[in-house]
Formats: sequence, structure tokens, C-alpha cells
Amino acid sequence: MIMKPMVAGIAALGMVMPAAAQNMSYGADNFYRSNNVSIQPISFQTQYQTTVAGNLFYLKDESQNTTRPAVLVGHPMGAVKEQSANLYATKLAEQGFITVSIDIPFWGASEGDPRNSVSPDLYAEAFSAAVDYLGTQSSVDRERIGGLGICGSGSFLISAAKLDPRIKAIATASMYDMGSLSRQGLQHSQSAYQLKELVAEAAQQRWIELDGGEVEYTSGTLNHLTANASAVEREFFDYYRRKRGEFTPVGSTPQLTTHPTLSTFTKFVNFYPFNGINTISPRPMLFIAGDQAHSREFSENAYSRAAEPKKLFWVSNAGHVDLYDRTELIPFQKLTSFFQGSLV
Ligand SMILES: *[C@@H]1O[C@H](CO)[C@@H](O)[C@H](O)[C@H]1NC(C)=O
Ligand SMILES: *[C@@H]1O[C@H](CO)[C@@H](O)[C@H](O)[C@H]1NC(C)=O
Ligand SMILES: *[C@@H]1O[C@H](CO)[C@@H](O)[C@H](O)[C@H]1NC(C)=O
Ligand SMILES: *[C@@H]1O[C@H](CO)[C@@H](O)[C@H](O)[C@H]1NC(C)=O
Repeated sequence: MIMKPMVAGIAALGMVMPAAAQNMSYGADNFYRSNNVSIQPISFQTQYQTTVAGNLFYLKDESQNTTRPAVLVGHPMGAVKEQSANLYATKLAEQGFITVSIDIPFWGASEGDPRNSVSPDLYAEAFSAAVDYLGTQSSVDRERIGGLGICGSGSFLISAAKLDPRIKAIATASMYDMGSLSRQGLQHSQSAYQLKELVAEAAQQRWIELDGGEVEYTSGTLNHLTANASAVEREFFDYYRRKRGEFTPVGSTPQLTTHPTLSTFTKFVNFYPFNGINTISPRPMLFIAGDQAHSREFSENAYSRAAEPKKLFWVSNAGHVDLYDRTELIPFQKLTSFFQGSLV
């Protein structure tokens, strides 16, 4: 019997997304929708005339005649706006903020080739472009725009905020410093020698692509759960590869999601988001992380290097990925009062 291409496709899909039950505890609700909030797809240009895709969220019955504070929201590294960012944007919109979630350049519905490329400068620029967008909405008060970055976007938002004082308040959740991660690994688990090998491999891959070879992908989340998978790999797998958080944007495939390209990943090696983080003061910063998170070091480091006013808020018994979608663990009330108090 000849297998039709479509049947083969479905079989392949079944292999990468096992039906195994995901952990939905503590109100995991990544795709939450609010009856009170309108969502509108938007797009806008960066300073380099590339298109960023996003969603705009606002209270349905809000009078359009008063200007309101706004918050832009960035998704975890390797994710897209449908993962975690829309959830946070919706919850903040319920509280009366106008919010925007964005796909960072090269990811999701935002422009950029090759897909899944890394460019920390363009990622940060997308946050400033979101401020441009919000600032041209008649319902938004230009003096009251804040930002929220989840995981890698925490570091991209800090990078943007250093150059963009129009971002008046900065919050992060489960922050990953993608620069430090790429140079040293988690908890300095990567040696200088290993870094040199990675850099050499990326440079070699650049020759391959120059000569017409295929784009290669790296890191990200395991496509198959192996018996030897680490606790961190399992934590990400439960979100990105199961119904709990899986999302494949148009034009991508389930196998490619979360994986940056190998030849561009090393752009992060030159990314030092916390250098000069103190210059963001006196704009307030709030760092939120789970006290069980494998990524604790990044929030601790940012907090210690930032100047006042700053706050480090530990969510007890929460891990890194828990703050992507577990609505009973994410301190939405804390975020609301932070932005209400600082966007005045
Ligand atoms: C599910 O996730 C929660 C939150 O991280 C954790 O406390 C719990 O142990 C997990 N349950 C299982 C069965 O892994
Ligand atoms: C909003 O402003 C317009 C004119 O600027 C006015 O016609 C309209 O009645 C106002 N709506 C509300 C709800 O105040
Ligand atoms: C939705 O709006 C209603 C009416 O204002 C309010 O009572 C309710 O608490 C809101 N729900 C959420 C989840 O914000
Ligand atoms: C884990 O197991 C897979 C096969 O299931 C193997 O390909 C991979 O190299 C192993 N990884 C490590 C770190 O041992």
C-alpha cells in the first residue's frame, strides 16, 4: 500500500508530539481568552523598515476618549507571541492597560530570513518599534508606556530600555540572560573551551550555507523526550511539545519550533544586556522569578547590577516554565500594581 503524503505527514506529527499527559497544575492556561478583552492582530515597522507582527489587547467597553497606560509584552526565547506573551497581555488588559504582544524578528509572524535567526539588536529594536506603534494610538498616553519581558525577552527588553527612555517601567518574568547563557551555560556549566568549539562550529556552518548547504538548527527544546533527558529539558518539553503550550506558527513546522539557527546563535555571545543596566534608573524595574527556577541566577544578577528603584520578587515553589502559563503562580496582581504605580 502506498502511503499518501498527508497520512505520512500526520504520522510524523504523532511521533514528535506524544499524547502523554502534560502537567496542567496551578491553573496552566497558556491560551486563555478573556470575555472582557478584545484582541486585534497588528503589524508595524521597525526603524530598519522590517515588519513586526503582534496583537493589540484592550478592554472591550473602554471609552476611546480617555488615554490609558500601555504595556508591551515579549515572549520567551524560542517561543512566539501565542506562548506566554498573549496570556500576560490579556491579564494586564483585563486590568485596564492597553497591551501589545509581539513576535520578535525572524520568529512567528514577524519578518526576517532565515527564519529562527538570532539578532539581539533587532530583537531589542522590535520593543522600541512597539513603543512607536503604541505611541501613535490615540488611546495611549505616550508618557505611560511600560514593558514586560518573559524569559529571553527580559534581556531583550532591558537592552531596549537602556537606549529607550520612552519605556517608563520594566518588568521581567523568569528572565534568561541570553548573552550569559550562550557564553557560560546555566550556572557556568560551559567551559571557555566549549564556547570556542561552539563558535567554530557556527562559523563552519556559515561556510556550508554560503556554499548552498541547508540551514542548521540548534538548542531549543527536545523534539523527542529521551530517557536521559535532563530535568530542565523535561521542564521545557512539557510546555513546548505538549498541548499545554505547543504552538506552530504559519510557515513553520512542529520540528522547527524553538530551535534557533546554528550559524546565528553565536550572535548572543556579544550580547551583554546587564552592562549599563544601572543607567535605566530612575525608571523602576521589577524582576519576577520562581524560587525553584533553574534560571534564578539571571534575575539575581540583573537585580544586583540595577540601580534603584528595583525589586526582586520570588514566587515561592515556582520553577522557570511555571511562570509561562500557570495562572495560579504568576503574580498578575503584583505586575498590575507595579505598572499602576509606575505609569502615572
Ligand atoms: C506539576 O507541576 C507543578 C508545578 O511546577 C509541580 O509542583 C508538580 O510536582 C508537578 N507534578 C508532576 C506530577 O510532575
Ligand atoms: C468622544 O469624543 C467625541 C468627539 O471628540 C464625541 O462625539 C463622543 O461623544 C465622545 N464619546 C464619549 C463616550 O465620551
Ligand atoms: C469582566 O468584567 C466584569 C464587569 O466589569 C467584571 O465584573 C469581571 O470581574 C471582569 N472579569 C475579569 C476576569 O476581569
Ligand atoms: C541521550 O539518548 C539519545 C538516544 O535516546 C542519544 O542520541 C543522546 O546522545 C543521549 N544524550 C546524552 C547526553 O547522553
